[in-house]
Amino acid sequence: MTPLNLVAIYPGSFDPITYGHLDLISRGSRLVGRLIVAVLRNDSKQPLFSVEERVEMLREVVGTYPNVEVDSFEGLLVNYAAHRGANLIIRGIRAISDYEYELQMALMNRRLRPEIETAFLMAGEAYSFISSHLVKQVASLGGNVAGMVPPLVDARLKGRYAAQAR
Ligand code: PNS
Repeated sequence: MTPLNLVAIYPGSFDPITYGHLDLISRGSRLVGRLIVAVLRNDSKQPLFSVEERVEMLREVVGTYPNVEVDSFEGLLVNYAAHRGANLIIRGIRAISDYEYELQMALMNRRLRPEIETAFLMAGEAYSFISSHLVKQVASLGGNVAGMVPPLVDARLKGRYAAQAR
């Protein structure tokens, strides 16, 4: 049973989306009425893919979920969530090492807007070692990341690193 009145935001950098993210999206979409996957703009990190590229890749892979939408945001996450009428933020936790940073963010977000809750979901254990950061490192060194990212992301990674090598 899905609490249809719940609108949730799943925020992140998604540079690029991995099967771990997709697993979280699948789990989240079953829990809430509407799930908004939101890509952060103006991140201080130097991304491999532009926000537009990341949104495009996300849209392609979440197309099969009727209650999932992809958007981008800038500024404070809780302000964006309030603007979108969301009452829940979903974040994934892979290992205990993720927990400290996630807890800090969740408590800060709660201080800023107490009416918005954060829920932590665990991706399937098969995905617990996957991160966008490591996927990029492996792909940049010619390693095989098939099975860690959707095929279209794999192809984009190959294309990006081949172009950089030229
Ligand atoms: O995928 P990431 O990089 O771990 O996602 C981090 C993200 C986007 C959730 C976080 O950086 C964020 O919410 N940024 C928006 C700025 C903000 O609201 N900061 C205060 C809360 S800690």
